[in-house]
Amino acid sequence: MDEQNSTESNLDYQAGRPAVRDGHDSVRREKPEPVAGGNSKVLISWVATAGLVLLMAGGYFNGYSNSFNSSDTFIYPGYVAAPRPLIDGASGPVEQKPWIEDWMADGKKTYGNCIACHQATGMGLPGMFPPVIGSEWVDGGTERLSMIMLSGILGPFNVSGVTYNQPMPAWGALSNEKIAQVMTYIRREFGEMPEGKTGVVTTEMVKVAREKHGKRATPWAEADLLAIPADADLPGAEIDLNTGKPVGKN
Ligand code: HEC
Repeated sequence: MDEQNSTESNLDYQAGRPAVRDGHDSVRREKPEPVAGGNSKVLISWVATAGLVLLMAGGYFNGYSNSFNSSDTFIYPGYVAAPRPLIDGASGPVEQKPWIEDWMADGKKTYGNCIACHQATGMGLPGMFPPVIGSEWVDGGTERLSMIMLSGILGPFNVSGVTYNQPMPAWGALSNEKIAQVMTYIRREFGEMPEGKTGVVTTEMVKVAREKHGKRATPWAEADLLAIPADADLPGAEIDLNTGKPVGKN
């Protein structure tokens, strides 16, 4: 085949003959047939790169798929929900409920143990069960009150000048927290706290009381209680009514 013919290979085709040149072209275009044992070399760096990409993808998947947990897949750590939208008529930002409200609500529940005798009103039953309203034992120091709560009282017993003589059960089986809550409840709900006092009794205060007086297995007599100064308070930090934490440690 000479140079002149090279552009005219189709003429062979038109003439109905296979062109030698076309045959060569296809041979030159194709890669050699693969042979057993492999003559194709895949670059090790490509394999390594592909492996690395897979590894990173796996790590990313693991880190962000959150095990397909749909409830918080899209919540990033430290997320704080926006306050609820205001309901009709409400104005201003929704304020968080102060700690004392929950503490009092729990105290009220525990006071359910007391209403058979002291009544829901706190007025007691004349001649039988003393009122906790206007009682010097409730308004006074928390140490005496904690002793009454932990071990109970056996009369005769004076409350606001009236003598009672029924057993007051011990409540030491309740947790320190429950005792603290019910003490707080009767002091704030029924008592009259002196100026500057919040009436709050904490779990820590009751713990101190239990360590000091909790071993007593029988109810107190009035004389035992009178031996403690009327204004003796259990030691413990003053509490911030909004946070429930010691004042200044928010
Ligand atoms: C079974 C009846 C009864 C129950 C229940 C009872 N108390 Fe009393 N409580 C008495 C009696 C009676 C006295 C007076 C002591 C006496 O007569 O010897 C008293 C005295 C008191 C006092 C001292 C006096 C006063 O009135 O301030 C307090 C405080 C008190 N109770 C708190 C409570 C609390 C809090 C509860 C519930 C956790 C409770 N009591 C449950 C019968 C009861």
